Amino acid sequence: MNISLIGCGYVGLVTAACLAEIGHQVTCTDIDTDRIAKLNAGIVPIYERHLDTILASARKAGRISYTSDAAEAIRAGDVIFICVGTPPKENGEADLSAIDHVAQQIAEEARSAKLVIEKSTVPARTGLELQRALSAYSQSGAVKFRVASNPEFLREGTAVEDFFHPDRIVVGVEDESSAAQLREIYLPILEHRFDCPAHGSACRKDHHVPFLVTTINSAELIKHASNSFLALKISYANVIADLCEKIGANVDEVTHAMGLDPRIGGQFLKAGLGFGGFCFPKDVQAFIHLSASVGVDFTILKAAEKVNKERIDRYLEKIRKALWVLKGKQIDDVRFAPALEVVKRLLAEGVNVRASDPEAVERTRTLFPQAEYFEDPYEALRGAQAALVCTEWDVFRSLDWERAGKLMARKLVIDGRNLYSPSAMRQLGFEYYSFGRDALQSEHSVSS
Ligand SMILES: NC(=O)c1ccc[n+]([C@@H]2O[C@H](COP(=O)([O-])OP(=O)(O)OC[C@H]3O[C@@H](n4cnc5c(N)ncnc54)[C@H](O)[C@@H]3O)[C@@H](O)[C@H]2O)c1
Repeated sequence: MNISLIGCGYVGLVTAACLAEIGHQVTCTDIDTDRIAKLNAGIVPIYERHLDTILASARKAGRISYTSDAAEAIRAGDVIFICVGTPPKENGEADLSAIDHVAQQIAEEARSAKLVIEKSTVPARTGLELQRALSAYSQSGAVKFRVASNPEFLREGTAVEDFFHPDRIVVGVEDESSAAQLREIYLPILEHRFDCPAHGSACRKDHHVPFLVTTINSAELIKHASNSFLALKISYANVIADLCEKIGANVDEVTHAMGLDPRIGGQFLKAGLGFGGFCFPKDVQAFIHLSASVGVDFTILKAAEKVNKERIDRYLEKIRKALWVLKGKQIDDVRFAPALEVVKRLLAEGVNVRASDPEAVERTRTLFPQAEYFEDPYEALRGAQAALVCTEWDVFRSLDWERAGKLMARKLVIDGRNLYSPSAMRQLGFEYYSFGRDALQSEHSVSS
């Protein structure tokens, strides 16, 4: 099928690459001309496992193209995926100005009937507004537009794999022909007719993928309801961690046992610094805002958001307790989001921050030029009085702490992600703090 795709950010590029990989002809556009120039030069501006490979093969096969000319892209496809950003406004409400802008472009430039699909995360009822905007902006009224919602559930880091092996594909439609068109787009996934870029010949193709056809409002709500529920789970685990510290229990043991109950499930029950990044906090805020706007008080979600915001305070308390005076101390911050706030607050207290991250150094350098940045985490740790671990990247998970300990001025690790075994770290001679496991650890060390 001929597909147009507007917004070549994270979701847009992954979607475009995967749609091309399953045989569609995809024409992409973005308001960011620099990004389009890079893509045309074969440069992939984001990192995601397998993305480079499938984009390169789609280019070679002539199944993907990039243009800064939105009109050209809009006319190329029978269906148009909208993948533009929907950032939060000051009050938490989703800013839908990019969607509105794109609606105007589509209405003005389309010369044949289009199915316009929201892939961006948007509040319920946006589809109805989009339909209205398309009609209002369409001057002749001669071109017919149908609107559908196809929310995206991919997880950063496994996005390509998630596209080929989704838990479910949700399509919100107003009519049967839109559902049929969307089904046709995803048929290779539903029928397992693809060469799996993630697993190759070891790919298991017996997994049933539910294809759920709903109303547009329901599809939009499903996305926000799902993300918000995961946020609730994370905050719940974090309160349990606080309780464990007071009571002398181990949060890993508690959440592991909880998660074995299939009604609960083990994922998103990890205690630590809480949810961050761009999507979760903004989707939670947008959902709270949407609920309030229709007179529904989403108290439990507000509580989850409050718990999450307080994680940074809890983390700084741990740092302060371990280091006593922060000013003048040299700390290695191993990764930022959701700990950009941690870096900000440490810098404000006069700490020398030496930061390392496999992906986010360039972006963060512009935000906090006062910090020092290192590609090599061991270099960042040289001379540090403490190491703060703020993310779960594999490079940090498998860090050689024996080697790191020899480089550090003080063998102190404050782990915001509960990545390491407290006993293993102590055996290596580290003073080690994490979330929800420390009270029990100190009791053990007293009794042993
Ligand atoms: N990143 C994720 O993990 C994820 C997962 C599921 C859903 N989503 C949702 O998908 C949407 C996109 O997210 P993202 O992470 O890809 O964002 P992003 O910021 O990486 O990409 C957005 C892209 O849209 C482009 N854009 C903005 N306005 C435009 C316009 N008027 N015309 C053309 N292009 C325009 C930007 O230049 C940018 O390249 C958001 O609604 C987000 O909530 C994101």
